[in-house]
Amino acid sequence: MSRRTVGLLLVIAVVVVSCGGTSRTPLLADGRILYTSNGCAACHGSAGEGGAGGPLADVVRTFPQCSEHVEWVELGSAGWVETKGDTYGSAGKPITGEMPSFSPRMTEKEIRTVAAYERVEFGRLEEETVRADCGV
Ligand code: HEC
Repeated sequence: MSRRTVGLLLVIAVVVVSCGGTSRTPLLADGRILYTSNGCAACHGSAGEGGAGGPLADVVRTFPQCSEHVEWVELGSAGWVETKGDTYGSAGKPITGEMPSFSPRMTEKEIRTVAAYERVEFGRLEEETVRADCGV
C-alpha cells in the first residue's frame, strides 16, 4: 500500500468514526424513525428545537413521568382538553389545541418508544432510566 493510500484510508477511517459518534442505540434508532415518520419532527424540529409545536428540551419537566408523556401523545391537545382539562403538564401550560392525537395511528409501543426517544435525546435523561420508566 502506498503512503498516499494509507493516508486516504486514515481520512476515511476518521470520517467513519466521527459519523459513528452520533450512532444510536437500537431504541434511539427506532425512536428517531418514529419521530420523523409520524411528523413529530415537522412540528417540533428535527433536533427538538421547536416550530409549530414547542421545543422539547423541557419535556421532562413538563412530564416528570413517562406515563403522562405517553398519555399526552395518545390524546393530543383536543383529546386532552376533553378528558383532562385545558392545561397540561406539571407547569399547567395552556393548550392551543394543535397537537394531533396519535392513538390509534401509532401503537402504544410505538408511542412509548417515541416518548423514550424524546426524553433521552432532547430531555437528556439516561437511556437506562428512561427505558425502565417508559417500559421499552
Ligand atoms: C401539527 C403539529 C404537531 C405534530 C405533528 C406533533 N406535535 Fe407535539 N405539540 C404540538 C403543539 C402545538 C404542542 C403544544 C400543545 C398545545 O398548545 O396544544 C405540542 C406539544 C407536545 C409535547 C409537550 C412538550 C412540552 O414540554 O410542553 C410533546 C411531548 C409532544 N408535543 C410530542 C409530540 C410527538 C411525540 C409527536 C409525534 C408522534 C408530536 N408531538 C407531533 C404540535 C405538534
